[in-house]
Amino acid sequence: MWNSQQLDQYREQGFLAQPGLLTQDELSSLQTAANDLVSRYEEMVELVGDDEDNGVHYVKENNGAVRSLFAAHQRIEAFRQAIRLPKIAGPLKQIFDNDAYVFHSKVNVKDAFQGTVWLWHQDYGYWQYDGVDDRMASVLIMLDKTTIHGGCLLFVPGSHQWGVLEHESDEATTSYKQWCVTKPALLERIQDDRVYVPIVGEPGDVFFFDCKILHGSGHNMSPASRKSLIFACADVDNQPKVVENPRPDWVVARQFEPFTNDIQLEPTES
Ligand code: SIN
Ligand code: MN
Repeated sequence: MWNSQQLDQYREQGFLAQPGLLTQDELSSLQTAANDLVSRYEEMVELVGDDEDNGVHYVKENNGAVRSLFAAHQRIEAFRQAIRLPKIAGPLKQIFDNDAYVFHSKVNVKDAFQGTVWLWHQDYGYWQYDGVDDRMASVLIMLDKTTIHGGCLLFVPGSHQWGVLEHESDEATTSYKQWCVTKPALLERIQDDRVYVPIVGEPGDVFFFDCKILHGSGHNMSPASRKSLIFACADVDNQPKVVENPRPDWVVARQFEPFTNDIQLEPTES
């Protein structure tokens, strides 16, 4: 569980880093599962489908590399266990002061030389159209070493307090349709490189971040692939309301079973 300073830091900055949070065993089982999913891409698509049937949903880059694997937490035991670890589920329960469910999950694969950009966005910029409110947070587990040249994430500390910035759809830049912050809105907020921080680290490092933090990441120019496992989570009382164009269940949960049932919230100490 976090102490009150950690919780304060999360609330002020919009994210909290926990280097080395996973043990080698916990990490290895996630790495093995993720590597297996990526290397068995063609076979897995054949086996479970890559669409809205509760299977793993794959997104490939235009250059053929695997970009993302969605919804694996529903069928991969190592992923199910990871989100239930008290050191991960506990802080999420503290953030919401309530139980939490997985809104979606994905393994982002930034393949060596081929992994492409995630344009600047706030996750809630899109999720607001899924019928949920902003009681949402994500947890990112680094599965590989993550470097600046490997296209690490960039966070803008404190930007979760800016409200939802103006977003627009981008279908041109990558294979994946991105809902990203407009250039005028970015120019207003990001005037130089000091505004953002690179989220670099080692396998097993874990980052918790708010659904409104402004973030993005560049191309992987390095010879090393970097994978991360991201669980987007929501307060159990924040379930999607009916919307006009509901997105598929690999990206918007239709099951709301809390993964935090075993966590007891205690008064935080400093
Ligand atoms: C990334 O993996 O670089 C982007 C993650 C995200 O915004 O979901
Ligand atoms: Mn994001």
